Amino acid sequence: MIAFAAVVLLAFVLPPVAGVQISIAIAAVMQGCLAALLARVFRLAPWWMVIAFCFPIAIVVSNAVQLPSVVYLAAFLLFLVLFWSTFRTQVPFYPSNEAVWRAVTTLLPEGRQLRVIDIGSGFGGMVMYLSRTRPECEVVGIELAPLPWICSFVRGRASGSAGRFVRGDYDSVNFGDFDVVFAYLSPAAMPALWRKAHTEMCKGGLLLSYEFAIPGVEPGMVIYPSGDGPALYGWRIG
Ligand SMILES: C[S@@+](CC[C@H](N)C(=O)[O-])C[C@H]1O[C@@H](n2cnc3c(N)ncnc32)[C@H](O)[C@@H]1O
Repeated sequence: MIAFAAVVLLAFVLPPVAGVQISIAIAAVMQGCLAALLARVFRLAPWWMVIAFCFPIAIVVSNAVQLPSVVYLAAFLLFLVLFWSTFRTQVPFYPSNEAVWRAVTTLLPEGRQLRVIDIGSGFGGMVMYLSRTRPECEVVGIELAPLPWICSFVRGRASGSAGRFVRGDYDSVNFGDFDVVFAYLSPAAMPALWRKAHTEMCKGGLLLSYEFAIPGVEPGMVIYPSGDGPALYGWRIG
């Protein structure tokens, strides 16, 4: 808003004062630069700078190409069902990969019927991999966003996976029902996740988090599934 107001003001002031007209394209670039600068000044996460810069330019470009309005509606609906409550949870969708799933498998004690949950299971890759490689385990995925959940459900059914996919909020799950809780969330979710795991998980339970550590809580294990990529952290509940 500040960047927009500043550029509008400039567009009105410059022509009579300096005899300079600002085109819409230049105004968009100026607004993008100013908004990105403000994002930096207010110490927002780095990706906000990119979003702030690109947003006004994207509006001008999309206006110029005159796409039918149904395209915007479709894009809005797609993002809605993909990201759903991200504004509240601060955990968007981005998938982990097979190297992470393999690393998680190596941390599961052999020969025991473990109950494992992927909280925020996305498109279900982790749950299906674990149920395939460790068939003795009961593996559950819980996912809040409708699109990833329905995809994981259909993928699970189509491939005959023994993994179970539940639609819901992991906050409503009692972690005490599971021996291993796997999370790939975001830094914002970690303090509350630790409080919940610490309160509910049984002694000896294992909390795993890919990429995001828990501030102030030393992990008992740290491994790097893909060499120089992010770490997989583990905490034994004691
Ligand atoms: C970074 S993705 C990880 C997906 C998957 N676990 C993986 O490893 O590929 C995080 C997922 O958590 C979901 N999520 C965020 N908050 C949640 C909540 N409170 N309950 C259930 N799912 C949640 C998001 O919708 C998103 O799909």
